[in-house]
Amino acid sequence: MEFLYKKDSETIFLTAVLLVAAVVTQDVSPDCASCIKVNATCYNVSYLFDMNATFRTHIVVHKMGILRSENVLFYSFEPEIADKEYYKVGFVNLDNPDVQGVISDEHIKVLNFGTFDIDQDNSIVYLGGYDGIFTYGNTKKLAPYSSRGDTILSLFYKGFVYFVKSDDNRIISKKGDQFNSVLDYVPIKNFVLTKYDVIVFLSNYGLFLHKKGETIWLSKNAFFRGLTIDLDDTVYAWWIDGLYRVVIEKNLAESSIVKVAHIPGIGALTFDNDNNIIFNLDKSVFKMTETNVTKC
Ligand SMILES: *[C@@H]1O[C@H](CO)[C@@H](O)[C@H](O)[C@H]1NC(C)=O
Ligand SMILES: *[C@@H]1O[C@H](CO)[C@@H](O)[C@H](O)[C@H]1NC(C)=O
Ligand SMILES: *[C@@H]1O[C@H](CO)[C@@H](O)[C@H](O)[C@H]1NC(C)=O
Ligand SMILES: *[C@@H]1O[C@H](CO)[C@@H](O)[C@H](O)[C@H]1NC(C)=O
Repeated sequence: MEFLYKKDSETIFLTAVLLVAAVVTQDVSPDCASCIKVNATCYNVSYLFDMNATFRTHIVVHKMGILRSENVLFYSFEPEIADKEYYKVGFVNLDNPDVQGVISDEHIKVLNFGTFDIDQDNSIVYLGGYDGIFTYGNTKKLAPYSSRGDTILSLFYKGFVYFVKSDDNRIISKKGDQFNSVLDYVPIKNFVLTKYDVIVFLSNYGLFLHKKGETIWLSKNAFFRGLTIDLDDTVYAWWIDGLYRVVIEKNLAESSIVKVAHIPGIGALTFDNDNNIIFNLDKSVFKMTETNVTKC
């Protein structure tokens, strides 16, 4: 009996060694060659299409967003140097990428739309540029909305339009004819607002959180390229080397920013109607879908 027992325990030990070996081997040859890890989860990356706008030689896309009712991806980009505008907004239908173009209006002068956001309930795109804010709605025509003559640096929609002008430290909300100062702190390059009214913003000093009079300096990295929110209200930032998750805690001071995916050369990023990640590398657009694969 004693012998047998010993043998069994040896067998168990050997099995354990083999299991470890198997795990190590599978780590080398992953279950999904086209997957990458986003924190602990493997996402399958697939190429969708190329954006066919007339880009500058060095392709720069600043922002992406999806008009959810039509599944159309909008993106702000820098057009070729010969173009009289520095910034433009293009669009491409995710269901049918042949339907694509650039927002323009031959009757309106240089607009330099470098920022935009979308009122999903009413399917209205708000665009900000060198001559205030314009709308682009169901009629597919541009119409002046607000702040003519001002340069709009960043724009966000959450029930109302929130925006930042050049030479002004404030985030301003426009509710009907009323303009309110929502935050007055430092010059802001870019911002988003969560469901619970936390403002996440980027300035030349780095990345900050703000809620009810409290401001937290979360990162001194001044080179985050953009901010976005997924369908679950999680805020992400991205930088040249990949994707970062902003973990906002109830006690704002305990919040953190964590790199969750290594994607060198990432351009801009948004989330589609199924909360898949949509991003670009140069002019190519990719989709990243969550999988249940554990080794990648
Ligand atoms: C990463 O995944 C682990 C394990 O699921 C989780 O506990 C952690 O909160 C995640 N981190 C972030 C930043 O999402
Ligand atoms: C990843 O996507 C490819 C097609 O793009 C598919 O063939 C493959 O099965 C997917 N893998 C997983 C783990 O979902
Ligand atoms: C974009 O242009 C390339 C090259 O001309 C072409 O192959 C591709 O089909 C175009 N993509 C779309 C979505 O129209
Ligand atoms: C993973 O997902 C695939 C299809 O989405 C399913 O067939 C498979 O059973 C799942 N595997 C596990 C371990 O949940």
